Amino acid sequence: MATQTTIPPPILSTTSPADIASTCETFALSREEFDNLHRSAKEAKSHSYSPYSKFRVGNLIITGANVENASYPVTTCAERTALCKAVTTVHPPNSISWASKTLKFKAIAVATDISPPASPCGMCRQAIREFCSVEIPIIMFDGENGYAVLRLKELLPLSFGPEALGQEDLGRRGDS
Ligand code: THU
Repeated sequence: MATQTTIPPPILSTTSPADIASTCETFALSREEFDNLHRSAKEAKSHSYSPYSKFRVGNLIITGANVENASYPVTTCAERTALCKAVTTVHPPNSISWASKTLKFKAIAVATDISPPASPCGMCRQAIREFCSVEIPIIMFDGENGYAVLRLKELLPLSFGPEALGQEDLGRRGDS
């Protein structure tokens, strides 16, 4: 029988001020930032194009949602939609080290309609690794009032990143 090697994170509640206060303290977020992540990630789900799976995913970095395709593998997840949007709209052109200077992500939120909440797929975890510190909190909201938070390093242990290819100067992830 397969054994579960990772303990699932506790499910916290968006209606519990104590849960939110503790999340904000642990991950250095203000209450306003948490509320904004919650509201915007849920709102982003309404932009999902998911006629095949009906599985709506909203993501907030800059907001994004999953965009499906009749040829299923062509689908882009919400996380990568949002990351690509951020990367291609926020940074100054022709700047290799732009990310460490201008695009410091503080938290990532993902909202789905299921409980317990869905976590980013493997490909999205690696995409996040490219642009964020392994310490970044990933807040996963479910379809009701539940949420869970894990750091990227917990979702993607022993990860491979730009520094393995000599890109130490990107700076934002020297804490791996
Ligand atoms: N999906 C995401 O948007 N993010 C993930 O991390 C996992 C899956 C989407 C892709 C597809 O549109 C639907 O969820 C079902 O796989």
